Amino acid sequence: MTEAHAERRLVTCLFIDIVASTPLTRDLGPERMKRLVDDAFRAMSDHITAHGGTIEKFIGDAVFALFGAPTSHADDPERALRAASACARWAAESGSPLRIRIGIETGEALVDLGAARGERERMAVGECVNLASRLQSLAEPGQILIGPSCHAATEYVAEFGPSQRLRPKGFDEVTAWPLVRVTGGGRSALPFIGRGRELDLLRVAYGGVCAGQAKLALIIGPPGQGKSRLASEMVTPLRGEATILEARCRPGEENGAETPLRQLIASDVRGPTAGSIEARVRELLPDSDDAGAVASAIGHSVGVTVDPRVITLPRLEQREVLTSAWRRYLDALAGQRPVIVWVEDLQWADALLLRLIDRVSDAASTCLLVIATARPEFAGSAHFREGTNRLEIELGPLGQADAVALARSASALQEQDVERAQGNPLFIVELARARLAGPDVPMTVQAMIGARLDELPPADRQLLQQAAVVGETFTVRDAALLSEREPAEVAAALGRLSHLRFIEPAGRSYRFHHVLVHDVAYGRLIAEERLRLHARYAREGLSADDVEARAHHWWRAIGDADASWIWADPVERAKLRKEALRTHLAAAARLIGRNAQERALEVSTRAVTLADDPRDIAEAEAALGWAFHRNARGDEAWTHRLAAIESYRRAGSEPPPALYADMLEIPIFNFGYFREQPKEAEITRLLAEGERAARAANDRLSLARLRSMRALHDEDVSAADEALELIRSAGDEAVYTDALSRHAQAEILLGRIESARSLLDEALARAARGIPLNEPEALLWRTVLACNQGDLEDAERFASRLLGISQSGSAHTRQHALGGKALVLFARGDWEGLASIARDVERLVDANPTAGFCLVGGAALGQAAAGETARGRPRSPRLEELLQRMVPEGPEVRDSILMLPELMAGNADLVATGARAYGKDLPPFDRQIWDPFGVQLTMCNALLSRWDALAPRLADYDERASVAPMLGALAEAIREEVAAAKGGPRPTHESLRELGYKGLSELLSFRP
Ligand SMILES: Nc1ncnc2c1ncn2[C@@H]1O[C@H](COP(=O)(O)OP(=O)(O)O)[C@@H](O)[C@H]1O
Ligand SMILES: [Mg+2]
Repeated sequence: MTEAHAERRLVTCLFIDIVASTPLTRDLGPERMKRLVDDAFRAMSDHITAHGGTIEKFIGDAVFALFGAPTSHADDPERALRAASACARWAAESGSPLRIRIGIETGEALVDLGAARGERERMAVGECVNLASRLQSLAEPGQILIGPSCHAATEYVAEFGPSQRLRPKGFDEVTAWPLVRVTGGGRSALPFIGRGRELDLLRVAYGGVCAGQAKLALIIGPPGQGKSRLASEMVTPLRGEATILEARCRPGEENGAETPLRQLIASDVRGPTAGSIEARVRELLPDSDDAGAVASAIGHSVGVTVDPRVITLPRLEQREVLTSAWRRYLDALAGQRPVIVWVEDLQWADALLLRLIDRVSDAASTCLLVIATARPEFAGSAHFREGTNRLEIELGPLGQADAVALARSASALQEQDVERAQGNPLFIVELARARLAGPDVPMTVQAMIGARLDELPPADRQLLQQAAVVGETFTVRDAALLSEREPAEVAAALGRLSHLRFIEPAGRSYRFHHVLVHDVAYGRLIAEERLRLHARYAREGLSADDVEARAHHWWRAIGDADASWIWADPVERAKLRKEALRTHLAAAARLIGRNAQERALEVSTRAVTLADDPRDIAEAEAALGWAFHRNARGDEAWTHRLAAIESYRRAGSEPPPALYADMLEIPIFNFGYFREQPKEAEITRLLAEGERAARAANDRLSLARLRSMRALHDEDVSAADEALELIRSAGDEAVYTDALSRHAQAEILLGRIESARSLLDEALARAARGIPLNEPEALLWRTVLACNQGDLEDAERFASRLLGISQSGSAHTRQHALGGKALVLFARGDWEGLASIARDVERLVDANPTAGFCLVGGAALGQAAAGETARGRPRSPRLEELLQRMVPEGPEVRDSILMLPELMAGNADLVATGARAYGKDLPPFDRQIWDPFGVQLTMCNALLSRWDALAPRLADYDERASVAPMLGALAEAIREEVAAAKGGPRPTHESLRELGYKGLSELLSFRP
């Protein structure tokens, strides 16, 4: 046997002997006898090859066949049993007078692959070959005798007769089993033991789900405790009656593009694409006009498309839109039959998935069960709302009796081993499988798995360790790439490893039997090999497009502390770091795109450590600043963008103008993101720098954005004019729409009502054509304009649309919508409707204890209080408390909301401080921007008969009367009040009432 062709293989040997009684041979004569035997050989050969075996040799009246060489299968022992059964059946049923006896055993053998290919005549060599042959000779005619190793490998797929103690020639005593029949089926694992109570809890939960109450069942326990197995026992029998969506979480970006959400959708839509997802959603939501939007949001969340509408929304809004889309989809799916969402290892889930689980499992009328497993470090309560539809199962160790039963079924394990396993099923199983469980084996699961790895032939062990670089799941191609071996050879080895249950087939891939098996195998790689393999995998193992997974492998290859000595050549190291950096920057952008903000932060933080020269540092810092921005962490975003600017300078280049526009967006529009507002002087300096840079680079979009900000910040009319002009002359509608809508805020602040109105109308018209826009924001400002202009019907329309689309929005946006609606009801004097809106606001605040709110929702409460006083009812006792919570920053703004109801109740004290919120000396975030024309303050002054203070306001209103008839009518009404106070006729407020502002009119004549 030449070394080159020889291999140690795990094989199953099958010996079949043809038995003919001497009298039969005599009666039939040699010629007929030979004919019969040839027929039998042919029939049996066919059965053997049909089951994937190879005929090794004919020896006299016997056939020797191998399963596992030259090609191995995960289930070679089972195949051998099936082939044997088929042969036995042939002998019994074909009418041949011949009888056969069969012996089978599994084990390691030295196999000459050349011989197996028929090039040479040499048998496999190994103890199992001899034992199989001996068993055959000891079998009764018609019997199939199975040796101990083969029996252990097929225990759960076949039925055996009572064991027999035999003494074959050349062996010590051996136990063998006669095969009764192959049953197949439960190949997967040992029988399920115990856990009755837990399974009952899950079944009861499922029962509740079928009755229409969604539920979340969280199974918590340490690794190996049996969480996944319990979930599987629950879910597997339901495959026929429920739709099952499955996903496994993995740490970091190991899953790459195969994110858990993608896995979930792929359980329903194979190989999901934008098209197939949309087709599916339309099928599920046939009568709804937003099916396209739902599909697009889902496609966005799983990374198959980019939904531009989602991208323009602020962070919380995005998350809400995505989770609502999923909820629509799952609700519809659950309308057909119950849905089970099965998510493994939640401790590695990202925020979007957790939010989604929280949302969907809270639905009062959906047949949906979320089963999730997690390790104890996962703080479930921090992620999920409390409620009756939450079930948490703490999985403890198996009880003594169950542990012994499990150990028995795994192998003949000693009692003391069971004790050492401390009830952890994985531990019990591994301990039994390791068979090395001597008293001095260190008692950790890791050590047990390690011991089992050591039993493998070195080549197989190495393959397993190299494949672990990919992660928990890998393909034959991956393993071949990393081991630099032939795919066919690798496939055979993986078959063997799967047979030994180190790994198991998962679709077209293999998965480590348990994450700990993965971790132990991975941990055995020496640093140098590990880093080099990660680098190779990052370069060659993944599609160029899977930047997230590639970044993960690059980081493992070069982010490691060992990297500096392993990649010793500075030139090579620098090259690798640059490649890694580019991938990280691309991954960070992708992660932000699909709303994985926290992960984006992690990846861009790594990017910064990978950047070496100032130019790269600048880019990485800018990316990190953006990630902080999207995480609503203004202070850090600010600091890192300052660092980016500084680095661009050091690199000798001008910072990109967009960097200025992006960073200034926070102090100008999203100042709530800051814990500490930046210095005024710094904002001014950066604004000027940005404008200069944008002009120098002729970057018109950035210049337009920066000039709008300047207009808002300094109330600078010429800046507003320039921004407007740039926006108006821009060809690219899509890119400029957001700038256009934002600029409207500047126009409102400058009192340019018509301009603001037309900008917002234009932006909304573009949005209606599908151009991305932060529509809730535009609708909010459009509502306020219409109310002040005197067009209550328009205002009503905008407010209702806002209310409609904000249903799927964040709590903050929903209070915006309620605030818009309240404004209309207040103007109309619909005190009843207003009171009901105020109750909605209260409920919203109570239901979202961690959400941030603002003066828009707060104003609704103040207006409702005024309304209650007007109709002689008590106002909500919680008014002050809620306002404190919703508008925590400025006392001036709070007082500006409270001053009217307080005044109506006889207390004029707040008017002075409230009035300050209308002045220009406070920073933008401390001003009453929700009442841009000072209507509330004017009302207060009118009630206080401060006619002198009112004069300039009324003149201002007169001037605006042509574009804002309401303001003109209000001025007129107040003049009637002045006249009446001097003994003139009773005021009628006719113009005001004609426009529909009955509420304002009523309050103007209110006397406490
Ligand atoms: N109750 C049980 N009966 C039989 N085998 C079990 C039982 N619980 C766990 N196992 C086996 O123990 C091993 C570890 O269980 P697993 O569910 O993967 O643990 P976890 O998910 O908690 O890490 C698996 O091989 C599993 O089949
Ligand atoms: Mg598990």
